[in-house]
Amino acid sequence: MLSRNVANLLNEQIMKELYSAYLYLDMSNYYTQEGLDGFANWYYIQAQEERDHAMLMREYLLNNEEKIKLLPIEAPNGEYNDFSQPLDMALEHEKLVTSYIHNIYAAAVAENDYRTMEFLNWFVKEQGEEEKNASALIAKYQLFGRDARGLYEFDNELKGRAYSAPSLVLD
Ligand code: FEO
Repeated sequence: MLSRNVANLLNEQIMKELYSAYLYLDMSNYYTQEGLDGFANWYYIQAQEERDHAMLMREYLLNNEEKIKLLPIEAPNGEYNDFSQPLDMALEHEKLVTSYIHNIYAAAVAENDYRTMEFLNWFVKEQGEEEKNASALIAKYQLFGRDARGLYEFDNELKGRAYSAPSLVLD
């Protein structure tokens, strides 16, 4: 059994990861409608990864005989001013998610919950990757995205992103 606090935070994190999936799906919808299929592909895959994060949290709780209560997921607002706005929002969002993961980690430390710390280590690393990727997209957009030809080529590059299942596998 996990402590109540750690279990509740992980339970809430399922919803937060699914909200992340929802947000990135919303961004993918936006780019599809704008004809930028590479950006749409990038965020579609990002949404799949967020769903995977939620499922890992679910599996960890179930493996530890915790009851799960699924919480409501907020709707993303669906309005973007320009092509670069989702990129900025994604970085801010990932920083927020990093703070959630660190918060759960701190709760696990406070409870001497070594099992949860070990589980969360993967997420701590993953958040570092996600922030790095989100920053790199912003930097590339600033370099190449502002003229039509550069945007076209950048979009083509993003079509190459392929989904892969998370490297974390729970027993
Ligand atoms: Fe699952 Fe991008 O945080």
